[in-house]
Amino acid sequence: MTLRLTASTDGIAEAARLLRAGGLVAFPTETVYGLGADATDSAASARIYAAKGRPSFNPLIAHVAETDAALREGVFNPDALALARAFWPGPLTLVVPVKAGGTVSELSRAGLGSVGLRVPSHPVARALLAAVVRPVAAPSANRSGHVSPTSAAHVISDLDGRVDAILDGGSSEVGLESTIVACEDNRTVLLRPGSITREAIAEVIGRLPELTDDSDHAAPRSPGRMLAHYAPKTPIRWYDGRRIFPTDALLTFGSQAVDGADDTKAVQNLSPSGNLVEAAANLYSSLRMLDQAGASTIVVAHIPRNGLGEAIHDRLTRAIAAAGVGE
Ligand code: TXA
Ligand code: MG
Repeated sequence: MTLRLTASTDGIAEAARLLRAGGLVAFPTETVYGLGADATDSAASARIYAAKGRPSFNPLIAHVAETDAALREGVFNPDALALARAFWPGPLTLVVPVKAGGTVSELSRAGLGSVGLRVPSHPVARALLAAVVRPVAAPSANRSGHVSPTSAAHVISDLDGRVDAILDGGSSEVGLESTIVACEDNRTVLLRPGSITREAIAEVIGRLPELTDDSDHAAPRSPGRMLAHYAPKTPIRWYDGRRIFPTDALLTFGSQAVDGADDTKAVQNLSPSGNLVEAAANLYSSLRMLDQAGASTIVVAHIPRNGLGEAIHDRLTRAIAAAGVGE
């Protein structure tokens, strides 16, 4: 049985009580909904992997209410400290070495010597974390291989009956998972692009962060970034300029012309006015809608690569690369 909780004082208190008792609670953040469990309790973290059907080698992000709590869990070098001060609370995850005495369970860290930490800005998330007092491990609240949820309704469609409660805090404003930056040794590496852009990071640390390079075995990496993670079930490809079929569904952006767009199964425009922030917020719900349209293929039109476009491209490129691969 999954309890539906409203984001009232009582609802938040009940969610905190369930988390402290080892339960699973899906809760809103400004990026996407998280599937939360007590990060200090490895049995609770194990239930996350089970509920998601997630390969157990994926480390989870530990969420805390305040930067000070994060500083107790990890070793922050000067870049990490500067980024924490600039962007927390907010949609940034910092991967840093575990601090002696840190409380995040090894299972939650997937056995790594580093820990992913985030102080979300969503008021409901912050109130919940303050009430739990301990760090809360939370991956996105979707089944493994499905797109991330940006509303309580999305969470219910994926996890109803598999979690103890869902705390409803409306739609997630950012709509894309947090930017992940690893600050280990003397390297600062962008592991996952997000709404905090490389340029914004450069302004804080005085240079662009490195990009992940899978051939660089010394570089920090993000083991959870499997291709299938972002894939809808319907085959998906980029628009190649040729007329699309009436059996296709179209994911488009702005006012560009797509040949055949008037006669398709379904069309979703991420932002008719060409706004990348709006596009990011709509990405996963649009993919879900198109995935349910019964189309033979989802065709993705041109999306600019500047600013948030980089993160949107990253998700779509992974979805397209994963199409036809497993799941
Ligand atoms: O916006 C977000 O980050 C959302 C909300 C709920 O906070 N969470 C989220 O979690 O997207 P998840 O589990 O779907 O993605 C977490 C990513 C994974 O790709 C994982 O590999 C990486 O963070 N990660 C976590 N800890 C890490 C570590 N110690 N080293 C490398 N990567 C890590
Ligand atoms: Mg995820």
